Amino acid sequence: LSSATSPHDNFLRCLSLSSNLSSSIARVVYTPDNSSYSIILRSRMRNRRFWTADTPKPFVIVTPLLTSHIQATIHCSRNHGLQIRIRSGGHDYEGLSFVSHVPFVLVDLINFRSVDVDAENRVAWVQSGAIFGELYYKIAEKSKTLAFPGGICHTVGIGGYLSGGGYGLLFRKYGLGADNVIDARLIDVYGRILDRQSMGEDVFWAIRGGGGGSFGIVLSWKLKLVSVPPTGALFAVGRTLEQNAINLIHKWQYVAPQMPHGLYFDISLSRVKSTRDGKKTVISSFIAFFLGGSDELVPLMHERFPELGITNKDCIEMSWIESIIYLGKIRNQPLEVLLDRDFQTPLTLPSYKSKSDYVKEPITEIGLKGLWTRFSENEAEFGVIYFFSYGGIMDEIPESSTPFPHRAGNLYKIIYNVGWQQQDNINSDKYIDWIRRIYDYMSTYVSKSPREAYINYRDLDIGTNSEGNTTSYARASVWGRKYFKNNFDRLVLAKTMIDPENFFRHEQSIPPLWKKQ
Ligand code: FDA
Repeated sequence: LSSATSPHDNFLRCLSLSSNLSSSIARVVYTPDNSSYSIILRSRMRNRRFWTADTPKPFVIVTPLLTSHIQATIHCSRNHGLQIRIRSGGHDYEGLSFVSHVPFVLVDLINFRSVDVDAENRVAWVQSGAIFGELYYKIAEKSKTLAFPGGICHTVGIGGYLSGGGYGLLFRKYGLGADNVIDARLIDVYGRILDRQSMGEDVFWAIRGGGGGSFGIVLSWKLKLVSVPPTGALFAVGRTLEQNAINLIHKWQYVAPQMPHGLYFDISLSRVKSTRDGKKTVISSFIAFFLGGSDELVPLMHERFPELGITNKDCIEMSWIESIIYLGKIRNQPLEVLLDRDFQTPLTLPSYKSKSDYVKEPITEIGLKGLWTRFSENEAEFGVIYFFSYGGIMDEIPESSTPFPHRAGNLYKIIYNVGWQQQDNINSDKYIDWIRRIYDYMSTYVSKSPREAYINYRDLDIGTNSEGNTTSYARASVWGRKYFKNNFDRLVLAKTMIDPENFFRHEQSIPPLWKKQ
């Protein structure tokens, strides 16, 4: 780390001079001329849409081992006019954890991934760089009847997921991941390490759903663990157009949100090869996981949704953690698969784009038919639309309880996802156009003023800060109210308290109130 001329050199020099760190921090700093740089950059670049020669790269990657490494990185970046991108699991749909169009340093939390489960007190401290698979595995080692309401895809990072809310199999019973965070440790722009008490309730509120990368670097989270029965019941049944799929989806909209809290019930539309003629055809899959046995689930379905025709033969009994593996489509694998961070999830393809919507009134059968037809026009290798039913405890948690505002009044959430192989990135515009057309078509049927969206399905189409990530309240309100509705204003206040100079910023970061940009 030699003498300084450019901001980059100055930054590196600053790091090397940081008190007592020179030898230890040198081991975790990677510049492009280091042979490990590309491997580290790409290993958690989950969305390979950004794995191209033109994608701007960090001028340095830091994989801190100690909190003092993070403090020094923040200090030196501020002093030398560089921005920071924070990466936990690297799943951000728009790559905001590892791409920036201004010179930046990537802080990759791969070494901050300890998981400490205290089954007796039903809590866990988890560092942000851990993935959900690691948390689930450690919980299962200690207890068969404890769980955490996290997502199905086990490679998703704790840091990004909890920063945006986070739904999963247990969310109708226990709420979002963020609803079950009881403390956290955050490094702020001044390098202070703050817990719930010292950061104050406004900032603690903001980091649980206000989106990552705005308030500081969350090091770890204290989670409340929840109860699950040792065995649950699951079904996943497919229905085609000929099998009355449109009527069934139509009815599902009325039935699913009213189901008991212990039932997770979604629909996915996907295209599969027909066994008859090998041609691709659209199928709707009805997928449920129930916190109880099939002896309860089957009568429940008979009573409330007889048209779906669920019988004992459709149901499989398994534990909550086995259902994560089953629904994550990594069947017949031992639990240890959950520890595999590099696992390529079959839930999407390596390159992807997503969008989201909220539905407040049932969509008509004509509307659903139109969606089905447009869905069939996908030319990408992979496309899926999920309907996640709401209701349950989501109706009972007040809209202002966390920044995530999509609570009572929503029947379900829609996620649109298109995926393709990395070598097909050249056609990405075509695939993204398709998903945008579907989204345009759906505008008649979904929430309006604002058209709500889910922050963890990050979508830069709905608005961004200005070039260079300078922010203004007016401009940020455009996308901010879609993600956060009226909670956006409290987020702005929390940002103003914790990072008034707006150091932590990106294309959709929360602006502070009075900083002149
Ligand atoms: P990543 O590291 O990319 O971070 C995402 C954002 O948070 C970035 O802006 C980043 O800078 C910031 N950030 C990360 N760590 C931070 C930290 N420690 N402190 C401050 N900011 C930080 N969602 C869901 O709710 N339920 C689900 O079931 C799924 N399933 C799913 C499957 C697949 C295949 C994908 C690609 C995505 C999902 N998601 C999801 C969405 C997921 O929750 C979302 O992409 C999260 O932001 C991912 O968190 P990572 O830590 O992996 O992302």
